[in-house]
Amino acid sequence: MNSSDNQNIPDFQGSMKINEKNHLEIGGVDTVFLAEKYSTPLYVYDIDLIKSRLSEFKKAFSIYKKPTQVAYASKAFSSLALYQILVKEGVSLDVVSGGELHLAIKAGFPAEKIHFHGNNKSHQELVEALNYNIGCIVVDNFTELDMINQLTSLHQKNINILIRITPGIEAHTHEYITTGQEDSKFGFDLTSGQAEKAVKLALECSYINVIGLHAHIGSQIFETDGYQAVIERLMKHAKQWNKETGFDLKVLNVGGGFGIRYTKEDEPLAIKDYVSSIVKSVEKYAIELEIELPEIWVEPGRSIVGEAGTTIYTIGTEKNIPGVRRYVSIDGGMADNIRPALYGAKYTGILANKVYAQYDTTVSIAGKACESGDMLIWDLSLPEVEQGDYLAVLSTGAYGYSMASNYNRLPRPAVVFVENRQDFLAIKRESYDDFMRLENPIADSI
Ligand SMILES: Cc1ncc(COP(=O)(O)O)c(C=O)c1O
Repeated sequence: MNSSDNQNIPDFQGSMKINEKNHLEIGGVDTVFLAEKYSTPLYVYDIDLIKSRLSEFKKAFSIYKKPTQVAYASKAFSSLALYQILVKEGVSLDVVSGGELHLAIKAGFPAEKIHFHGNNKSHQELVEALNYNIGCIVVDNFTELDMINQLTSLHQKNINILIRITPGIEAHTHEYITTGQEDSKFGFDLTSGQAEKAVKLALECSYINVIGLHAHIGSQIFETDGYQAVIERLMKHAKQWNKETGFDLKVLNVGGGFGIRYTKEDEPLAIKDYVSSIVKSVEKYAIELEIELPEIWVEPGRSIVGEAGTTIYTIGTEKNIPGVRRYVSIDGGMADNIRPALYGAKYTGILANKVYAQYDTTVSIAGKACESGDMLIWDLSLPEVEQGDYLAVLSTGAYGYSMASNYNRLPRPAVVFVENRQDFLAIKRESYDDFMRLENPIADSI
């Protein structure tokens, strides 16, 4: 059966379909079977979809004459098994902490393909990055530049860096805005001259190799004009700095932010359209400014794993306020997906154990945490729903598990990868024993 046969059922992505039992199937595996095997809440990842998104990026960039790098943004979702898949797919990796770096190295990620981000990298994290000989550090501020200069001089170690620029361009779903004041905790701003100063200082450091510039203009972007604007701005500055300091723009990294479909209202572009627009802009300004074509790097997170992830919950209790609202509670919520509570993110869901049915009920999906704001989906149209049904919330693959917490001592869910009719437990469910491992009982003497 096809999802488009019923207008209440969202368009399915990747290998999702409805099987002969009227259950949601992903990667050829029945999600009801998965819920029963691994319990709920359960994150299910469609690995085939992750791989096809990566190849869409790689294929789209093949039109460009210079090298390109697609660096998966780990913050969207990281796991040892995912990193191992990424190694095989030959992509690069963006990490933002010693923890992500550690996991990547443990997964066998080639260090030269790792880029290290973050506005407050610690001394220890920088030492680790240098010891592993990672490919590049994206430098965020003067303190960090100074720390890297000192460490590389002390250990006589070379490191490639990108200078992170706050370009004064912010992109939101359908528009971008140019802000005069570049008020952000990230990067060096252009207007006050800090970016230029950072480039000059970095060029004077003996062991630092300034290979280019970086900017990330936002998330869930549906248009290409923001990317075009940032490319123009960065390339024009690069040209000017080249005249003044000899700075050579070998790499232009335009960050991530490519939009995905959470609900039917979302209409993101195809990956090839984002990429071809970026490539065309870089080519255009290279000709206009008479500069060499730089390498183009991107850092997609959400667009790689977002739609590949589905969370399965079990329906529990309900509260029906006549004429007002019917609340239906699930066995998870803000602890495993903070996005609705944090910034009003919208999702859609279906009943995994009876997908194709009359969608004649409207319910609001409440999380189980002790917070009124723990509401996962408001006013969701569903078939008649009862305790024990399985709710599948779609497109939860990015910034869901990676932002999960133990709030209310709710154990973090398990994560299962599915592909070719097989399921693989990528991350175990957290247990009460896992909680206890970190606890120290008070000594009698205290
Ligand atoms: C510097 C940087 N690069 C890449 C990303 C990934 O963005 P997305 O997941 O929207 O592609 C982010 C997200 O916050 C980011 O801050």
